[in-house]
Amino acid sequence: MLDLGTRGEICHLVWKVEGSEPKLAEIEYGFEQGLFTSFIMAISKMLLMFLGVALFGFSISIVSSEFSIREASVQEIQIAFEQSKLTSRKLVEFFIREIQRLNPVLCAVIEVNPDVLYLAEKADQERKAKAPVSKSWLHGIPILLKDNIATKDKLNTTAGSYALLGSVVPRDAGVVAKLRKAGAIILGKASLSEWAHFRSSNAPSGWCARGGQAVCPYVKSTDPCGSSTGSAVSVAANMAAVSLGTETDGSIICPSSSNSVVGFITSRGGVVPISPRQDTVGYVKFTLHSRFSHN
Ligand SMILES: *[C@@H]1O[C@H](CO)[C@@H](O)[C@H](O)[C@H]1NC(C)=O
Repeated sequence: MLDLGTRGEICHLVWKVEGSEPKLAEIEYGFEQGLFTSFIMAISKMLLMFLGVALFGFSISIVSSEFSIREASVQEIQIAFEQSKLTSRKLVEFFIREIQRLNPVLCAVIEVNPDVLYLAEKADQERKAKAPVSKSWLHGIPILLKDNIATKDKLNTTAGSYALLGSVVPRDAGVVAKLRKAGAIILGKASLSEWAHFRSSNAPSGWCARGGQAVCPYVKSTDPCGSSTGSAVSVAANMAAVSLGTETDGSIICPSSSNSVVGFITSRGGVVPISPRQDTVGYVKFTLHSRFSHN
């Protein structure tokens, strides 16, 4: 049901369909409007807080505004879970819908995890039962992984290439094992510059045989940069709240900057390598302010 079909071909095909342009404009408009709305919301929140404190000693949490999944940080999502405004299942359904709607144009996702709804429901049950794992900040949060990060599940790990399709990885990458332990949900695999840009010196940034050419959601004609292109584009277009990329030499930082999201660099292990001295895993998200463990 969650199969995106022939992937690369879908992207190439829909890319040629006339009328795909307004979708990009829509996203751009949404972004500007989002910024404006957050500005207004920030001001009204402050005013309400001052009023509340002055009159009744209210705390900001009591006057918190409506929750929106778009551009939400991990921290805001966790608060929405806590306040029963959101479940992992609803969050995952939202991202699946956005992937189905936008990915034919943006080509940022190669595969969606066929088990993702089951994993989301499991997380919701754990939260309800107040299981110890549900205390983690990553619990119930769907995360998209660059396609060179190994997962020992139904997802393929191919670095964007048909050469690795159907190959069997020995284990989860170290970072994936830690994510699962912390209760995070693997949403799927993000597209990338094939082989993390080691296919050829003149292959375009953000292109891979399996995913097609990833596109910057703000300016279609710009270089979306690589090699963690899908990781950055998916977060920028709200197809995921957080994604993992990998970095050897600018592969997280460059696409993050080209697609207006925030990239962080951490550590590696179980990742299709380029340089053992330089390779590292990192994550991409919409804003700077959410709490995140660096372990
Ligand atoms: C993994 O690749 C195989 C082809 O070898 C395909 O049949 C399967 O659907 C892929 N898995 C996912 C989750 O897309």
